[in-house]
Amino acid sequence: MTFATATIGGWHMNRLSVAGAIISLFLAATPAVAQQASRCADCHFAQNTVPNPDHLYDWDRSPHARNNVGCEKCHGGNATVFEASIAHRGILNPANKQSPVNRANLPATCGGCHVGPFVAFQDSRHYELLKGGDQHGPTCSTCHDPVAGQLLSPKALEKQCSQCHGPKEVAPRAERARNARQMYESLNAIRDQLKLANAMIKRVDDKQRRADLMNEYEQASVPMTRAINAGHKFVYGELDEYLKVAQERVEKLMAHIANRAN
Ligand code: HEC
Ligand code: HEC
Ligand code: HEC
Ligand code: HEC
Ligand code: HEC
Repeated sequence: MTFATATIGGWHMNRLSVAGAIISLFLAATPAVAQQASRCADCHFAQNTVPNPDHLYDWDRSPHARNNVGCEKCHGGNATVFEASIAHRGILNPANKQSPVNRANLPATCGGCHVGPFVAFQDSRHYELLKGGDQHGPTCSTCHDPVAGQLLSPKALEKQCSQCHGPKEVAPRAERARNARQMYESLNAIRDQLKLANAMIKRVDDKQRRADLMNEYEQASVPMTRAINAGHKFVYGELDEYLKVAQERVEKLMAHIANRAN
């Protein structure tokens, strides 16, 4: 029994390696195409006089670079030419209030692609602060980096909130930070259960049963996305409601997966 599982595991790994090799080939072929699509990165990488080289490397390693979100998607400008003065036409320094990457305009700039978080963010006190010209509230880049698209762990998030929420900080209510960590710890616990369920479903032999379980898995994932979006209000009542729905659905799903095994 153990042997059979190991064999299946090994076979699975081989299939993954083959898929990995195919994906690597594909990726090896894509940068040339992507670079042609965005001359900005080509030139900025080639010159050592450009400001903020770390930003370039953060971009290069980010889901944005991998998904063809070029420099011009946030900064504007003309990404098809290699002539700096033409490429930079319309590009403003981030400190300029008209710049799409000015901290006050980031929600709309990022939100053009990330609609769910943006809609919820507009309901927050933080957004009110930004729109009012107040410099003390967070904007999208406070938690996600200007370009890297990072996702903070619950602990790192708590630390981020604490930078502003605390006895001697710009905002009151230190408990906001603790509460945020707890919420995202619960979220991660459910996410782990979903991952486990997904792995188990993939091992189900019967095709119809596998499809049914996968459908149930997707139904359980929907409230998770809604919870993550709603988290951008930073008041977590709605997030908590969605988490409860997700938890119920995951438990039912796990029970359905287990039923057959017995
Ligand atoms: C041919 C080279 C070249 C191309 C093409 C190019 N840049 Fe630049 N870029 C530079 C150099 C050099 C600087 C620093 C000197 C300057 O500000 O002109 C710079 C500066 C910048 C700055 C800082 C501006 C500021 O006011 O602080 C931004 C933002 C920027 N580039 C974005 C872009 C984007 C977006 C594109 C594509 C649409 C692009 N660049 C295309 C060479 C280039
Ligand atoms: C996801 C949005 C996004 C993308 C994509 C992006 N940037 Fe930026 N960039 C920003 C933000 C936001 C800032 C504001 C600075 C900050 O908050 O650190 C910035 C700042 C900069 C600066 C510093 C300007 C200054 O004078 O301070 C340069 C130069 C720059 N970006 C160039 C680029 C280049 C070149 C690319 C592509 C390789 C790129 N950016 C891709 C969002 C982005
Ligand atoms: C105070 C911190 C904070 C700010 C400000 C913030 N976010 Fe988030 N964001 C989070 C957290 C926490 C998550 C969930 C992380 C996880 O899934 O583990 C998240 C998740 C995301 C995701 C991933 C969504 C998904 O379905 O996985 C995107 C995209 C995103 N945020 C975009 C934005 C945008 C756009 C803004 C500005 C309008 C913004 N965020 C402002 C904390 C923040
Ligand atoms: C032109 C569209 C576009 C813009 C503008 C854009 N993004 Fe993204 N972003 C994407 C795509 C595409 C991905 C990768 C696919 C995904 O995870 O949704 C991504 C990924 C992310 C992720 C990781 C999500 C995850 O689940 O791992 C975060 C966080 C994020 N972006 C935040 C931002 C922030 C903050 C800004 C503005 C500074 C921004 N994005 C601007 C398209 C965009
Ligand atoms: C860059 C600073 C900054 C960060 C980071 C930050 N906040 Fe805030 N927050 C503020 C400021 C400033 C206010 C306005 C306080 C006021 O209304 O007097 C505020 C207000 C709020 C409010 C509305 C007022 C209240 O307490 O009911 C909530 C809720 C909130 N923040 C939650 C959070 C959470 C949760 C995090 C982390 C995920 C966070 N904030 C991160 C600066 C920040």
